Amino acid sequence: LDRGATAVAHPNIALIKYWGKRDERLIIPYVDSLSMTLDVFPTTTTVRLSPAAQADSVTLNGTPAAGEPRQRVIAFLDLVRELAGRTEPAAVETRNSGPTGAGVASSASGFAALAVAGAAAYGLDLDPTALSRLARRGSASAARSIFGGFAICHAGRGVGAAADLGSYAEPVPVPEFDPALVIALVNAGPKAVSSRAAMRRTVETSPLYRSWVISSKADLADMRAALHRGDLEAVGEIAERNALGMHATMLAARPAVRYLSPATLSVLDGVLRLREDGVPAYATMDAGPNVKVLCHRADAARVAETVRGAAPGCSVVTARRGPGARLRMG
Ligand code: DP6
Repeated sequence: LDRGATAVAHPNIALIKYWGKRDERLIIPYVDSLSMTLDVFPTTTTVRLSPAAQADSVTLNGTPAAGEPRQRVIAFLDLVRELAGRTEPAAVETRNSGPTGAGVASSASGFAALAVAGAAAYGLDLDPTALSRLARRGSASAARSIFGGFAICHAGRGVGAAADLGSYAEPVPVPEFDPALVIALVNAGPKAVSSRAAMRRTVETSPLYRSWVISSKADLADMRAALHRGDLEAVGEIAERNALGMHATMLAARPAVRYLSPATLSVLDGVLRLREDGVPAYATMDAGPNVKVLCHRADAARVAETVRGAAPGCSVVTARRGPGARLRMG
């Protein structure tokens, strides 16, 4: 009896964002990115080989997947099979404990878990770098969720195989830096425009995109220094400016991509008020209206209360740095 392989992975939130691909087939980013892997909303994925089946089967939270999500999983399995030199179909079962497709990085935890479980099921023996490179082919942000804590994902240089080889994540070892990330789920529904389509439109039409790519390099250098100093205020300021810059590039796309909602802006006002009151708190937003607020752990309750007051009815989850993707034994 083949019990297959089960892996668990957590989402990550980028403090220096990835936005835009220079190779859409290989999923090669334009910019390096840097993130914190969380200790909430894990994804658990089992991959079982089913040699007798005609095709792959894909189940998401107990329901057969269809359309694009299913296609992306199958394309990923094809890649794993190609690397392993095997052809058997597989049955994939995924459970996502977070809100899917709402900008809380379900594709990051999803493809990190699928990379680890898929590689094990097909007998591929990959080191963490190779697993990260593989996860990137599912979703670039997933490359970072292979690692716990803070991780940097290299955009890689050159084209084709060279770019693929150079684009992977690795840990940024700052074990002492252990802040809170207060997540305000202002709208947990699925997003209006997929991040994939939105980043393509931004790259193709936004006159601000090139400048953001340039400023992102400076942000990354500043961020690394701030992380190594354990300077939460600097880390937060850099993360906030980098995220707002990314959203500015989207707003300038034609037609505009706007993920930020009135509730998002209310939470941002709340974050500013906290800073005026001397509480270091800094916001970052991804491809959705939710806001993630970086702060000291000792301030997390106060930050959560402010966020609730700013966006009544939103749900608030406080996260910390979490573990990398791993196989679950047994
Ligand atoms: C805004 O990794 O979901 O969260 O590579 O097309 O799957 P694909 O995109 P994805 O984009 C994440 C974008 C972001 C910023 C980030 O996580 O770095």
